[in-house]
Amino acid sequence: MIGRLNHVAIAVRNLAGASALYRDTLGAKVSAPLAQPEHGVTVVFIELANTKIELIEPLGANSPIAGFLEKNPDGGMHHICYEVDDILSARDALKAKGARVLGDGEPRNGAHGKPVLFLHPKDFNGTLVELEQV
Ligand code: CO
Repeated sequence: MIGRLNHVAIAVRNLAGASALYRDTLGAKVSAPLAQPEHGVTVVFIELANTKIELIEPLGANSPIAGFLEKNPDGGMHHICYEVDDILSARDALKAKGARVLGDGEPRNGAHGKPVLFLHPKDFNGTLVELEQV
């Protein structure tokens, strides 16, 4: 069902510092920060040869990653995103196998403007999983 790894998202408190780490220490190609108020985060995209890393920093008062950073003050891996061909059929197949879909279960447009869903981390080895239809 799942296809390629689309990205790994890392929550950070200090986007400028994290960007500098990836650019200067790791030698990666790092984008300019992109505010995404509708998602409550500012994102920096790091393009690797085979996937992407997204550094996400809280934006606004009700950021969905604020609680994660309270529990993980140094930052940490927030979610991984797998590509699927058909998000609705993937959702229905996963629900039939007992996986929990977060929110109302309906796909919404994610950081790349494509439909996404999130799966409960307790059902996936403690890892928040994002599915993105590509
Ligand atoms: Co994501």
